[in-house]
Amino acid sequence: MHISLINCQKNTAESRSKNNMALILKIFALTELLTIATVLVVIILLLPGTAYSLSRDEFPSDFVFGASTSAYQVEGAANEDGRKPSIWDTFAHGGNANMYKGDGDVACDEYHKYKEDVQLMANISLDAYRFSISWSRLIPDGKGQINPKGLQYYNNLINELISHGIQPHITLHHWDLPQALEDEYEGWISKKIVKDFTAYADVCFREFGDRVKYWTTLNEANMQAMFGYALGIIPPQRCSTSTSTSTLSLDPSFVANCSKGNSSTEPYLAVHHMLLAHASAARLYNKKYKGLQNGFIGFNLLTIGFVPLTNTSDDIIATRRAQDFIMGWILNPLTFGDYPDTMKRNVGSRLPSFTEKESNLMKSSIDFLGINFYNSLYVKNYPPESKNMEDRDYMQDMAVELITRLIENDTSIDEVLDSLKNGYGNFPIYIHENGYKTLRNSSLNDWPRVKYLHKYIGTIANAIRSGSNIKGYFVWSLLDLFEILSGYEGSFGLYYIDLNDPNLKRQPKLSAKWYSNFLKNKPMDLKITMEIENDTPLPLEN
Ligand SMILES: *[C@@H]1O[C@H](CO)[C@@H](O)[C@H](O)[C@H]1NC(C)=O
Ligand SMILES: *[C@@H]1O[C@H](CO)[C@@H](O)[C@H](O)[C@H]1NC(C)=O
Ligand SMILES: *[C@@H]1O[C@H](CO)[C@@H](O)[C@H](O)[C@H]1NC(C)=O
Ligand SMILES: *[C@@H]1O[C@H](CO)[C@@H](O)[C@H](O)[C@H]1NC(C)=O
Ligand SMILES: *[C@@H]1O[C@H](CO)[C@@H](O)[C@H](O)[C@H]1NC(C)=O
Ligand SMILES: *[C@@H]1O[C@H](CO)[C@@H](O)[C@H](O)[C@H]1NC(C)=O
Repeated sequence: MHISLINCQKNTAESRSKNNMALILKIFALTELLTIATVLVVIILLLPGTAYSLSRDEFPSDFVFGASTSAYQVEGAANEDGRKPSIWDTFAHGGNANMYKGDGDVACDEYHKYKEDVQLMANISLDAYRFSISWSRLIPDGKGQINPKGLQYYNNLINELISHGIQPHITLHHWDLPQALEDEYEGWISKKIVKDFTAYADVCFREFGDRVKYWTTLNEANMQAMFGYALGIIPPQRCSTSTSTSTLSLDPSFVANCSKGNSSTEPYLAVHHMLLAHASAARLYNKKYKGLQNGFIGFNLLTIGFVPLTNTSDDIIATRRAQDFIMGWILNPLTFGDYPDTMKRNVGSRLPSFTEKESNLMKSSIDFLGINFYNSLYVKNYPPESKNMEDRDYMQDMAVELITRLIENDTSIDEVLDSLKNGYGNFPIYIHENGYKTLRNSSLNDWPRVKYLHKYIGTIANAIRSGSNIKGYFVWSLLDLFEILSGYEGSFGLYYIDLNDPNLKRQPKLSAKWYSNFLKNKPMDLKITMEIENDTPLPLEN
């Protein structure tokens, strides 16, 4: 997924000229751009050839470069070979909360085209492929019977990758909970999920663990909870308030009309159970499999660069609060065994607590951290409404306004990496997703994506030099796929797929060629080099 909140916000803001926020956004973006353009001119004059020098040799020899996808977004074959629906199928067929059209019934049809896709990866020289398993393809009811066809598909995919020398990095849960478990006990808000998730993980470790060494239990737990249970804009589309989305400057038409949910309690319950499910699966792996399989367990979250809108102490404190509510929510339990104090203070009795045993389990539950990073947001203090503490929802507890920050030379990933290094125990890090959005049918010459990847890969090299423990980098996404917050309208792929082509032929974009050249340590095409050095600002698309 990508933080398309920003996209939603921007697109809708632009379409509504009467929206004051749109003006604020534009003014900020413009001012930043002018300043940065000036700085860039100076830098380019002083340091000709900086862009050109980016080389794979700057990375440790065991560093892995890859690309990412997730099951529902690429596989298709939604009703084939015994797969049953996930909550994402239900959401898509129910209209995607009116945000966009489309579903993952066919998507990229990777279920049938996995050999071709592995060939693409091999052709561009990827070291690794990050994908997820569709729980309801492997275990259609979420628990109980294994689907032999599902098992066979993942074995085939894994074997195909290995035979091409590509490491499989698997995410067990990428937002597509089996609908059966949602129906039975409301999925992640019930503690029953811990047992079923652990049993599912057990099947995966047992069946695939001889060949798979990198396991991520959950993808973007923080966003799954915020979007799915506070705002109701992704499955399972649960929420109880729509007013609080005003603090995100979201267009009102993006606010899901949830038929059930409780934005005051459920986001916290969902994350709590995600963390417990993860810790339980990790304990199982460490006890039963690690000695034999020598693999590693991680957890994934979305990281965002938060920047105070002004230098007033209110906004600076609000920025720390946003960091705690969105990232500390996950990072503090994994590092210190408990939620951040800010959250305890603002959420009170609605925030679940860990027993001492759970807390200890949590602290020893990860070998690596998977982070996704796309961009940054300004934070403005949003004074709590005069509401009883019991009635506030997640956004009101956080008490901030998050404002799109579109700047050409965003360096806020440095601060995120520094805080992971200095504030959270310097875990080994895999950057599981990073990428740039364009309109799906725009040119195969995707210069903005090339520049974005060039910039971020360069930033990662610098961060490693200054002591960040980063082990791998994955571009989101390998293919133009079914995007969680924009369907088939936006795309992040290295490969374009024309949806009107019955064969869904994959066509390499310039970014695929650029990435391949970089990975093969080939000299950059002169035209590409000149274009990168001619550091014109990125279009404000992302
Ligand atoms: C992989 O590269 C070979 C050689 O350049 C080419 O013939 C083939 O079509 C490529 N395969 C895919 C799936 O792009
Ligand atoms: C939500 O419900 C209200 C009232 O029924 C309706 O006016 C509005 O159009 C709905 N919004 C969406 C996004 O469905
Ligand atoms: C949410 O749950 C809490 C605790 O059970 C309850 O007090 C509150 O009324 C619920 N809110 C809504 C909107 O249902
Ligand atoms: C806040 O202060 C920092 C450091 O002094 C400065 O770089 C930044 O531009 C200031 N931001 C604003 C919005 O004034
Ligand atoms: C912009 O990015 C370049 C690398 O592409 C970096 O050297 C430079 O410091 C950045 N400028 C600012 C103002 O952050
Ligand atoms: C992309 O272009 C095709 C063919 O022109 C068109 O049918 C399709 O609707 C377009 N898709 C999007 C998402 O714009």
